[in-house]
Amino acid sequence: MDRYIIRGGNPLVGEVTIGGAKNAALGILAAAIMTSDPVRIENVPAVTDTEILLKAVEGIGVKITRPEKHTVIMDSSKLNSTFIDDEYMKKIRASYYLVGALLGRDKRAEVPLPGGCNIGVRGIDQHLKGFKALGAKVKIVHGCISAEAKELRGAHIFFDKVSVGATINVMMAAALASGRTIIENAAKEPHVVDLANFLNSMGANIRGAGTDVIRIRGVERLHGTDYAIIPDQIEAGTYMAAVAACHGDLIIRNVIPKHLECITAKLSEIGCQITEFDDAVQVTSYEPLTSTQVRTLPYPGFPTDMQPQITVALGLAQGISIVTEGIFDNRFKYVDELVRMGASIKVENNMALITGVSKYTGTGIVAPDLRAGAALVIAGLAAEGETIVEDTSFVERGYEEFDEKLRAVGADITKAAEGWEFEKSRLRIAE
Ligand code: UD1
Repeated sequence: MDRYIIRGGNPLVGEVTIGGAKNAALGILAAAIMTSDPVRIENVPAVTDTEILLKAVEGIGVKITRPEKHTVIMDSSKLNSTFIDDEYMKKIRASYYLVGALLGRDKRAEVPLPGGCNIGVRGIDQHLKGFKALGAKVKIVHGCISAEAKELRGAHIFFDKVSVGATINVMMAAALASGRTIIENAAKEPHVVDLANFLNSMGANIRGAGTDVIRIRGVERLHGTDYAIIPDQIEAGTYMAAVAACHGDLIIRNVIPKHLECITAKLSEIGCQITEFDDAVQVTSYEPLTSTQVRTLPYPGFPTDMQPQITVALGLAQGISIVTEGIFDNRFKYVDELVRMGASIKVENNMALITGVSKYTGTGIVAPDLRAGAALVIAGLAAEGETIVEDTSFVERGYEEFDEKLRAVGADITKAAEGWEFEKSRLRIAE
C-alpha cells in the first residue's frame, strides 16, 4: 500500500494543467461500445477508474488500442457478451453505465450491482425506473441487474430526484430506442452534456442536455466518431482549493471557467483572488481566509465532489463556517482525520460546523475515499510538519499524477511504498 509523505508549509506557485474529466470519461467509454465502428477518444485521463472500465469492456471482446497516453481507440465490432464480470463491478460503481450502453446496443445486459460505497447509500431506483419506462424487463437476480427488451420504445420519464448516473444511463439506452424520449428533472452536470455531445457525434439525436429536460429522438444505429473529453471540473477545483488552503499563486490551465463558477464564487467570497481567462483560471491567495457557508447541490450548485476540499480550506478560515452536504448521507468521514490534525469541526447529521484554526499540524492519516483523500493531502500540504496519508490508491482513482503535479508547483510531497522508501523518509535520508 503506497502512501504520500508530505512536508507542509510551502505555497503553491506556478502552473498546473488539468486532464480530461474522469466522470465524463466513464460515461463516454461505456457509450463507445454502442457502435461496431471504431471510436477514437482523446483526453482520456489515465486514472484507475478509467483503466478498470476499459478492462471491463475488453473482457466482453472490445479491442482497445492506445496510440498515445490519453487517446483510446475502441473497436466493439467483436463484442461477444452482454455480461460484465463481477471483478470489475466491485471496483468501480460506474460500470453500471454498461447497463444503459448494452441495453441500447443489444437490448440486453447483465451487470452485477454496484457494491457499497464510503460516502453513503447510493440508490439505483431511478436508473431502473428509466429502463422500465423504455420497455425493458428489469430484475435484480443473484446480485446482478438484468435488463432485457424485445424492443426499446421512447417514453416520458420524470425522475423523482436529480441523478447524474440515471440521466446518463437512460440517455444511452434511449438513444437507440424507437421514437421519442423525454427525461424530466434531468441532471445538468457538465459531463451529462459531454456525454450527449459524444452520442450526438455518433449520430444520436439528443437535445436539451444541460437543462432540466432532455429530448431524445431514437435512431437505428450509431456510427464511429473522433471526440475529445472536456477538462475535469473537480480536478481543477481541487487545485483551486489547495491554493486557498496553502496560499500561493497558481495558473490552472485547460479548464472551462464556466464549469468552475460555483467554486470560483465561494473561493472569492473567502478572500482568494481569481482571474478567468479563455481556458485557464489564476488563483492567488496570500491573505488569511474568511468564513462562509456552503451547501452542496446538483450542478450548477456547489459540487459534492468538492465538499471535502472546501472544508479543509474553511478549517483554516477566520470565524465560523457551515458546510451542508445536500447530496450524500455519509460524506464527512474524513473529518475525524482532520480533527487529528488540529481542525475544530463538529459534524451533526449532514452539516459540519467549522471554527477556523490558525494552522493544522501533521500526523499519520488515512484516506477514506477519493475526494476526501485529495482533501487530506491538501490539509497535509498546509500543515506544519510531516503528514503521512495512507493509501494513495483512492486518490489515484481520480487524479492523474497528483503528487507530480503538486511537486511541480512547489509542494514537498513524495509517494512511497511501505518499507524502505517509507523508512528513508522517516529517517530523512537524502535520496
Ligand atoms: C455522480 C458522480 C459522483 C458525484 C455524484 C453527484 C460519476 C461517475 N460519479 O455519481 O462523482 O459525486 O454524481 O454529483 O459521474 N440516487 C437515488 N436513486 C438513484 C440514483 C441516485 O436515490 O437511482 C441518489 C443517490 O443515492 C445520491 C443522489 O441521488 O444521494 C445523487 O446521486 P447521483 O447523481 O446518481 O450520483 P452518481 O451518478 O452515483
